[in-house]
Amino acid sequence: MIKNSGGINYLDKAESTNTYLLNYPEKIECGTAVYTLNQTKGRGRLGRSWEEQKGKNLAISAVYNLPVNKLAPMPLIAGMAVVKALSSWELYPQLKWSNDVILNGKKLAGILCESRIEGRCARLVVGIGINLGKTTEDFAAENLQHATSLLIAGADIPPGELAEAVAKSLGKYIEIYISEGFESELKDEYESLCVNIGKDVIIHKKDETVEAKAIGISPDGALIYEAGGKEMLAYGGEVSVRGLEGYI
Ligand code: BTN
Repeated sequence: MIKNSGGINYLDKAESTNTYLLNYPEKIECGTAVYTLNQTKGRGRLGRSWEEQKGKNLAISAVYNLPVNKLAPMPLIAGMAVVKALSSWELYPQLKWSNDVILNGKKLAGILCESRIEGRCARLVVGIGINLGKTTEDFAAENLQHATSLLIAGADIPPGELAEAVAKSLGKYIEIYISEGFESELKDEYESLCVNIGKDVIIHKKDETVEAKAIGISPDGALIYEAGGKEMLAYGGEVSVRGLEGYI
């Protein structure tokens, strides 16, 4: 049972904090969040799993009720909220489109936004996984050469404080988004944090791979890219993006 009142709740263990909130049997107040250091079946983007080791990863999820037509830029907004929260500890990550949080060229955190839609309203769950204590050897054993952790970065942040800071930051960003929209300041902030803009990238779609140049972000949070002389849009739920030379 959680305190379903817009606050943050610690869970001893959860299969997936996203599933926990998506399936929570009662109505949940906007902004209610849960976190655990023991997530056993974490889920990642594009149907992948999110591998965690007890005590070495922080899994946070927070729930918001939003109109369906407001959902598209939410993954980008969540990425900015994580970056902002980490700045309190003098860490200044960047974002790889759509919402990988990158520190020193490697992935520190991943974000998975999921929703249950009822009519025009969505129960949106924003899930954030942050690598806390994994070592270079842990990542090598999982074949994750492009990953990093707060431990590797030399940052010793109490997990409960980090979870609270991330949940608060998320709440503030969503407030700004609801009152001002995405297409002005938030879009500019995202573009300034995104490592891909202006770079050559490879767009991985379900059945094809396209070499392209990332140009910018559309008013609804899609990546604008140019390929074969045409400008096109990619949405985060459908594609992943890599730099031409490797991960970013
Ligand atoms: C990615 O593929 O990069 C996204 C990973 C998202 C993992 C987080 S951990 C908290 C929340 N619960 C889940 O099952 N997944 C997200």
